[in-house]
Amino acid sequence: MRDVFEVRTYDGAGRLGELTVPRADVTVETPALLPVVNPHVQTLEPSRLQSEFGAEIMITNSYILHGSGDLRDTVLEEGLHDMLGFDGAIMTDSGSFQLAEYGEIDVTTPEILQFQHDIGSDIGTPVDIPTPPDVEREQAESELNTTQERLEIAEGVDVGEMLVNAPIQGSTYTDLRREAAEHAYSTSLDVFPIGAVVPLLNSYRYADVAEIVDSVKRGLGGDAPVHLFGAGHPMMFALAVAMGCDLFDSAAYALYARDERYLTVRGTEHLEDLEYFPCHCPICSDYTPAELRKMDDQAAEDLLAEHNLHVSFGEMRTIKQAIKEGSLFELVEQRARNHPTMLDGYRTLLDGVDRLEASDPASKDAFFHVSTESSRRPEVVRHHERLDRFDLDGEILLATDRGALDREFDERWAVTPPFGPYPPALSEAYPLTAEVPERFERQAYAAAAEGIRRLVAVNPDAEFTVALWDWPDDVLETLPDDIRVESTDSYSEKTEESV
Ligand code: GUN
Ligand code: ZN
Repeated sequence: MRDVFEVRTYDGAGRLGELTVPRADVTVETPALLPVVNPHVQTLEPSRLQSEFGAEIMITNSYILHGSGDLRDTVLEEGLHDMLGFDGAIMTDSGSFQLAEYGEIDVTTPEILQFQHDIGSDIGTPVDIPTPPDVEREQAESELNTTQERLEIAEGVDVGEMLVNAPIQGSTYTDLRREAAEHAYSTSLDVFPIGAVVPLLNSYRYADVAEIVDSVKRGLGGDAPVHLFGAGHPMMFALAVAMGCDLFDSAAYALYARDERYLTVRGTEHLEDLEYFPCHCPICSDYTPAELRKMDDQAAEDLLAEHNLHVSFGEMRTIKQAIKEGSLFELVEQRARNHPTMLDGYRTLLDGVDRLEASDPASKDAFFHVSTESSRRPEVVRHHERLDRFDLDGEILLATDRGALDREFDERWAVTPPFGPYPPALSEAYPLTAEVPERFERQAYAAAAEGIRRLVAVNPDAEFTVALWDWPDDVLETLPDDIRVESTDSYSEKTEESV
């Protein structure tokens, strides 16, 4: 792997980064969206993708160009950038998707890589085998072997400055995905697309996607740029970025427009069902749904495609700003509310919280507790791990911050769901500066109780008393037996006074 990717800022496993594309002599800010340009059917001229939408990189299919008489000669003569009128970075795919669709293609990896090089592609792709989800393990293994051989063949092709993708396959077998990622990372190839997830995305299997991405990320180094191949619906960008994906390609903006479908970050609408456009883009500001319905099909399709792209690029900017300010989890928690399967995807992502915690910054702007999932965020897990480091003795009161007891203690710690106990000195430090609601769900109390259990477990010499007003009885019952629980009767409204 050449040294082409640098992470600037993390939020969980999500990151802002820079991909240097030497052949195009540009750096691309990530996360980035690559609009798919079909060389035969250009919904939007590539120059407009750049000037109006801010696309720094796009993707097209070299296999289509390779197999088409006229275009092939033109592109070999003019080069891709001039032919398409795009001077950012251009990634080319190899025909693997056609292989998956039609069962065979008539190029080899060295041929198509050479062709991609000859037409001036900036990032090329070998012929990987996109194994579908849920196949027999034998098929997944043997096709992965073939993909891995092709990556090794690709290493040996002289492509000059062109970067080369190392697609990662393995179907729905997470161990194969991880092994595939380790192998890909050990090659000299540069960019790491996660392949064959389109069928999962199309059937809303976000939990499976989250498991696959988690396995792949565990097999790659942090300096590996990761592309989620074929992921183009803006409703899942935030979740996928939070998993650690850096590049996305969208054919969806054009394909959905063809069926009069209107993309939003909450899902997909049909033009015929819309009375109002819930969006601020130039198209939605200038037209009403009724006006689009009256237009001829091509005109309406073009405008819908423009809206679809605006909303997709707009969501990328929203995500980048969220990473910058450390609010990516809050954004994902909002997006996860838009479809139950997205919530499953987010919950699965949180199952791998150790990975998210490893790159999550120690300090951000305020933590907002806004959902049941907030209790499982890496900040909560990290706080619990930190509790293992305290060495306490004497009589310790762990109390919700209001209220007072008429007994003296050696030390008083505050308790806030979902974090649990913390010493007064940490109250001004992230994440304990959290904004939390007055009313918590059970999961938040349960997470706080886990914190108490950890603190008690590592401090056998201390005597703990808890004063946890309003906590649910069934959560209080999970506290260690030798802990003294003050009842509400001993609580006085004097507040903040004794101890
Ligand atoms: N586009 C969408 N999925 C894939 C894939 O698995 N491999 C390649 N080469 N292109 C894709
Ligand atoms: Zn719009």
